[in-house]
Amino acid sequence: MKLAILGGGGFRVPYVYQALLRDPGSPRIEEVWLQDSDAGRLAGMAEVLAALAAGAEDAPRVFTSTGLDEALEGADFVFAAVRVGGLRGRVCDERVALDLNVLGQETTGPGGIAYGLRTIPVMLDIAHRVKALAPDAYVINFTNPAGMITEAMQGVLGDRVLGICDTPSGLGMRVAAALGLDPDRIRLDYVGLNHLGWMRRILHDGVDVLPRLLADDDLLGTLEEGVVFGREWLRDLGLIPNEYLYYYYFNREAVRATLDAPQTRGEFLLKQQEAFYERIAAASAGAAMELWRETVASRSASYMAEMKGARTGEALDDHSGVDPAEEGYARVALNVMAAISRDEPATMILNVRNGATVTALPPDAVVEVPVTVDAGGVHPLPLDQPDLHQAGLMQQVKAVERLTVGAAVTGSRTEAAKAFALHPLVDSARIGRLLLDGYIDRIPEVAAVFSREESS
Ligand code: G6P
Ligand code: MN
Repeated sequence: MKLAILGGGGFRVPYVYQALLRDPGSPRIEEVWLQDSDAGRLAGMAEVLAALAAGAEDAPRVFTSTGLDEALEGADFVFAAVRVGGLRGRVCDERVALDLNVLGQETTGPGGIAYGLRTIPVMLDIAHRVKALAPDAYVINFTNPAGMITEAMQGVLGDRVLGICDTPSGLGMRVAAALGLDPDRIRLDYVGLNHLGWMRRILHDGVDVLPRLLADDDLLGTLEEGVVFGREWLRDLGLIPNEYLYYYYFNREAVRATLDAPQTRGEFLLKQQEAFYERIAAASAGAAMELWRETVASRSASYMAEMKGARTGEALDDHSGVDPAEEGYARVALNVMAAISRDEPATMILNVRNGATVTALPPDAVVEVPVTVDAGGVHPLPLDQPDLHQAGLMQQVKAVERLTVGAAVTGSRTEAAKAFALHPLVDSARIGRLLLDGYIDRIPEVAAVFSREESS
């Protein structure tokens, strides 16, 4: 089978390739096409993959291309992980908002709207190319903001595109580790949108172990969510929210901590990656893999760990305590591919078309819920409806997502200004307007969306 990775010069690609190398099943991926608009990044990544493949039997062959069509043609699976505007854009997503004293984060709040605005036209174009060149392919979308992007692409590709996030399964793995349980015997009762969800029950052989976890101070203290949200708030809620809900439930603290920090996450990564791609271009072939390992090891953590650091002064954890070789994205993506191509039914939490699953949302809204995946595609599992608080927040954020998609497609400033103003983390319509102006001013790819305004 052929796998196309769009954004193939990106940092997480070696994780995917490592997982492919270890995949003993059949059919398996024999060809990997890395596609990226930046030839230098592609060359660097190809070196890392070559080093990983050295000595492995039947290593999938790697091809690189800056052109989309060549990479997509005849693909069985497409992974999409592109960052329109690069990390420079991410820094602006964060800073424009922080300068107005609102949350500056790449996917949550106004930053996610700015990121979505410039990314949607690119991803819609990709969806049309997939439809033309690889009509039977499944698109596994990691491109953030993943829920919004997946929903926009479904308009072109229907259920052949699904969105992946590592945070729900990452939370499940952390909880299993905290309780000393076998993750394979755990089923997660989770509902939400991407980066806006709630783990309501953790069923171990059918028995809910969440109450035991919530009652235990020591266990909660070992779980990142226990530290970041605080034990008391988790008990009040009676569940564990997705880590990104920190930005809602502790918005002031999050804004304060990021304003006080010497640099944003985007600023840290921008410096780190510039240095990495420069060094790898200069390095000898053999040094590429070590350089990558060294760099990912110093990436220091998720936002949540950063918040934990800001709150407690503790050193930052590594990414969620997950073995780097098992990085969440790669694990979930490979599970999806195996389930579809080998018809081995698997249960996981994905971003898929709602249908009749969450009655408070339209059928064509993309939601993040437990599904089974098999050769027939993805099938959401029936679930208990979210409570009023959860449904209300999901509806409000979904409305913002849809305004964002509409603005990105039509170039309407009115719709975009509404999207910013109506976001629950933006507390004034005046600030909403200033956010839009700021992003247009600072990010050329956002400005380009609105240069077509006359025609709308
Ligand atoms: C988590 C989220 C992803 C996000 C990533 C950011 O894994 O699920 O959606 O892209 O964090 O990580 P980074 O290292 O780029 O800050
Ligand atoms: Mn995610």
